[in-house]
Amino acid sequence: MAVDLLLGLQWGDECKGKIVDVLTSNYNLIARFQGGPNAGHTLVFNGKKHVLHTIPSGIFHDNATNLVGNGVVIDPVIFKKELDKLEAQGVDYRKSLLISRKAHLILPTHRLLDAASETAKGKAKIGSTLKGIGPTYMDKTGRNGIRVGDIELDGWKQRYRTLANKHEAMIAFHNVDIQYELKELEAEFFDAIETLKELTFIDSEEYVFQAIKDGKSILAEGAQGSLLDIDFGTYPFVTSSNTTAAGACTGLGIAPNKIADVFGIFKAYTTRVGSGPFPTELFDDIGETMGRVGHEFGATTGRRRRCGWLDLVALKYACQVNGVTQLMMMKADVLSGFDTLKICTAYEYKGERITHLPYNIEAENITPIYTEMKGWKENLTEMEDGSQLPQELNDYIVFLENALETPIKIVSVGPDRKQTIFR
Ligand code: GDP
Ligand code: IMO
Ligand code: MG
Repeated sequence: MAVDLLLGLQWGDECKGKIVDVLTSNYNLIARFQGGPNAGHTLVFNGKKHVLHTIPSGIFHDNATNLVGNGVVIDPVIFKKELDKLEAQGVDYRKSLLISRKAHLILPTHRLLDAASETAKGKAKIGSTLKGIGPTYMDKTGRNGIRVGDIELDGWKQRYRTLANKHEAMIAFHNVDIQYELKELEAEFFDAIETLKELTFIDSEEYVFQAIKDGKSILAEGAQGSLLDIDFGTYPFVTSSNTTAAGACTGLGIAPNKIADVFGIFKAYTTRVGSGPFPTELFDDIGETMGRVGHEFGATTGRRRRCGWLDLVALKYACQVNGVTQLMMMKADVLSGFDTLKICTAYEYKGERITHLPYNIEAENITPIYTEMKGWKENLTEMEDGSQLPQELNDYIVFLENALETPIKIVSVGPDRKQTIFR
């Protein structure tokens, strides 16, 4: 069997967690391939909300194994907290959770470095989640990182010390006021390492290879979104990993020809948290309403998410980069009640109308060109079948399908597992 991918097409928080949970019954293995605890994936079922940061969103199902792949960066302290929460809910994760030996570890000093670097940037800060993601991937590519497999070996604590000392010098170099008590942070870190060691570490590329060979069905769960990709996102306001389809190949060790479907997930409007350009951002009542009705606050940091109209130029770009075969449109319910909906179908860029994403999409270069559509008034949240959807929503969907030349197979009408309409 092959591997399907589920990827966010915007700036993250496209409701990936919800849909991975919904789809898990169709898969044997759910695998995260990049990012780390900067992610916050929300699942809602049986009236309860769960937020996962590093652990794949299939963990609540008995039928599936969950893998944290080599491309992920793990903070043992946050990981332990996630495990404790699962334990408290009676989830028996020990059988169903595997970790790649090649995944890199986020050290306490990576987090501190992230904070120092952001503070030093001042107004130019990225708006990082401050989970140490950037510094950890820097150590990975700089060939200094510490991996999960290292903690099974003798002598890794010496390497840890050397690296932490170097980080302390780097923090001092930033010359900003960062208060910290490293001893306490390290005690917490080494305690969490012991918890991590109770889990099953594997050579995950071999495991995934065999799973494919044995006909197992695999879903790779993306984190962040395509416009936060280190290569293809709105650099430098991006994360430090490849969030796009190719990231699943390097982050799990799967060959490109083993990928079958690529599910591209997007909100019916757009949100972004953190700094960086956002051409269709709204600063008016409409944006405020989207944020309020959609409860647009970060699942990891609680920060308010910026809101705006759907940007088809950016969405088309994300579909191209990922090779999306099926689309999933989320939070359609949040758009109920607007008289008119706008969709950005082109940009005015240096006096010209363009329909591709240019190198620079900062506000001073771009004016979005909108197509207007009639909104709908109906509350969608109780709807269970495509035939119940209002005509105006169907028109919105068909307009997008035609523009993106890709079918929209799922329309989501609320946060719960059940509020999912298959088309
Ligand atoms: P992820 O990071 O892509 O998994 O998304 P987040 O969990 O960060 O953010 C998505 C938010 O939208 C969460 O609070 C979900 O519970 C919620 N959500 C998911 N689907 C829907 C939907 O169709 N409608 C509404 N109103 N909320 C949704
Ligand atoms: P999920 O998986 C939304 C954003 C941050 C910041 C930038 C860099 O829940 O969709 P980092 O911590 O990676 O150095 O932050 O990326 N960001 C996200 N935004 N959803 C996420 O994850 C994000 N992970 C990082 O806000 O702008
Ligand atoms: Mg999120």
